[in-house]
Amino acid sequence: MNDKTLAILKPDCLERNLTGIAIDFILNKGFKIKAMKMLHMSKADAERFYAVHKGKPFYDELLEYMSSGPCIPMVLEKENAVEAFREAIGTTDPRKAAENTLRRLYAKNMQRNTVHGSDSEENAQKEIAFFFPLKEIMLY
Ligand code: CMP
Repeated sequence: MNDKTLAILKPDCLERNLTGIAIDFILNKGFKIKAMKMLHMSKADAERFYAVHKGKPFYDELLEYMSSGPCIPMVLEKENAVEAFREAIGTTDPRKAAENTLRRLYAKNMQRNTVHGSDSEENAQKEIAFFFPLKEIMLY
């Protein structure tokens, strides 16, 4: 079932009070929020979540940033959710992101790029399970 993805409103989104705008944007694109919580990732949490990026030049800074403040992970549902959400947020580098994507509109730079979206169906399942036990994913 290719209908769910994991989104995170990142620390810079909350820091800049863009939470409402980001959620509104997501709902207006037709995604249904099936789960949502606010938490502060520890460095160890970030290390586990971003294990796939270990060894990359931006990895240490990424851990610092993602553990620098609270974030809001959410499970989003829509047909072809992974692809649809990646299209809605734009590329990792906000300067290269398409017009009217969330990152193009609001992100500061490659690292502080406001929002995360799973990059594949396989990762979406892993990332959803990282933050949400099944009972926290609503069925409405
Ligand atoms: P995200 O979609 O959460 O996936 C990995 C994150 O690493 C990415 O968003 C950025 O926050 C960060 N990232 C990826 N590439 C770079 C880069 N070249 N420089 C700095 N940060 C990066």
